[in-house]
Amino acid sequence: MENIFEVKDLSYRVDETDILKHINLEIKKGQYLTVIGPSGSGKSTFMRILASMISQTSGEVLFDGKNITTYEPTKYRQRVSYAFQQPTLFGKTVKDNLEFPFEVRGEEFDQAKVIDYLKMVNLDESYINKSVNDVSGGEKQRIALIRNLIFPPEVLITDEVTAGLDTENKAIVHNMLKEFNDRGLTILRVTHDESEIDDAESKITIKNGELI
Ligand SMILES: Nc1ncnc2c1ncn2[C@@H]1O[C@H](COP(=O)(O)OP(=O)(O)O)[C@@H](O)[C@H]1O
Ligand SMILES: [Mg+2]
Repeated sequence: MENIFEVKDLSYRVDETDILKHINLEIKKGQYLTVIGPSGSGKSTFMRILASMISQTSGEVLFDGKNITTYEPTKYRQRVSYAFQQPTLFGKTVKDNLEFPFEVRGEEFDQAKVIDYLKMVNLDESYINKSVNDVSGGEKQRIALIRNLIFPPEVLITDEVTAGLDTENKAIVHNMLKEFNDRGLTILRVTHDESEIDDAESKITIKNGELI
């Protein structure tokens, strides 16, 4: 299988602190990779670098064979999508958020498609017109996740996205992501969840900024 990411001797240093140290890693197309490690070990920092939201201070990252700095940021974000640990919904309504992926692609809002995606995460169509202030943390998390997936990227990075979900909704998200993965989506999943760690087909551990 072809590599989608090649990480070569990557380090990230802030002031005098080495947050990530000499990381080397290859990630295959279609892989479902689980990233574990203690709090503060550098997992989110590493994922932000892969998502090209921040840049490493040394080493390099190749995406699809080319240095990630050579990609145009808007295009890159459509190919590599990052689902945050603490998602934010912007604007006034849920619709403002779910319209956004269409807007950035210059496409017309497809309400039927959005309703299908809401249903995938156990939310009904009434959510479209809800105020962002009237949805719970767990609902916000699921809405943010489908915002990432309405136009499926090639890589989805999920950073502890199921932490605020109950067992039922966790299972719904697991099944949905598994289905996307079965259809070829590469997923990098950061988690502390024991059952997710047990189920993981491939995993890496980051400790004190090092891949171990
Ligand atoms: N821009 C930054 N400036 C200073 N310290 C940072 C910065 N970004 C991350 N850190 C520190 O780097 C360490 C790793 O953070 P993080 O990647 O969020 O860890 P994890 O996701 O594994 O919990 C933490 O100690 C954090 O405080
Ligand atoms: Mg983190």
